[in-house]
Amino acid sequence: MRKRVIAGNWKMNKTLSEANDFIEQAAEKAPQSDKSEAVVCAPFPFLPSLVEKTKGTEIKIGAQNMHFEDKGAFTGEVSPVMLKDLGVSHVVLGHSERREHFGETDETVNKKVHAAFTHQLTPIVCVGETLEQREADETKNHVEKQVNKALEGLSDQQVAQTIIAYEPIWAIGTGKTASSEDANEVCSHIRNVVGNITSQEVADQVVIQYGGSVKPGNIDELLSQSDIDGALVGGASVEAESYLQLVEAGT
Ligand code: G3P
Repeated sequence: MRKRVIAGNWKMNKTLSEANDFIEQAAEKAPQSDKSEAVVCAPFPFLPSLVEKTKGTEIKIGAQNMHFEDKGAFTGEVSPVMLKDLGVSHVVLGHSERREHFGETDETVNKKVHAAFTHQLTPIVCVGETLEQREADETKNHVEKQVNKALEGLSDQQVAQTIIAYEPIWAIGTGKTASSEDANEVCSHIRNVVGNITSQEVADQVVIQYGGSVKPGNIDELLSQSDIDGALVGGASVEAESYLQLVEAGT
């Protein structure tokens, strides 16, 4: 049985005091579960405090990006060495907003995935199509290309430990959630792609999340699908009460 992973992606939101208030509420109330994992992926400035405040709790802390080099002349960047040193456990890679606004490519995502494993960080690799690609029936081909490149060169064991987040771009922040059937169809395709490049055994282990306007009101239906193992949530993860409802749904 695959573990479910419910991850919040706060994006560029909150102040440090608001982040601390959130985590003090959520860490205390997050339910213990052997079936699921709760993650909060926060802006870099909050990570030291959030890691400290979640020690011994059910919540893990992730970053929303990182560079693929360990150090060097990359002004403004954050390295995997720094994240590991902070005690961060997960890192979101290849989010569509970074692909759109900051030049992230399938190639740089692959380098970052390798760097994540080098430093014992669990990558949450984001893939997903635009509305134009969906309307042109190019979704599966596009997502397949992204998955193949992101996982290129990984061992089967590393692939098995990778979290893949299917986030249709047209559903992000729009309130337009993909239907659970459509989301599951693409997640099933992603699992088949993983099976083709590794084995059915590995494909059965990979955690595949759905992201794109997930809310407490629709997460149960999404999680009831055969190939959706969790969620990567933006807006509905920013408030502690809503985030806890999402985590509860995963248990
Ligand atoms: O990474 C998750 C995010 O892109 C989804 O955002 O606000 O549609 O849940 P939202």
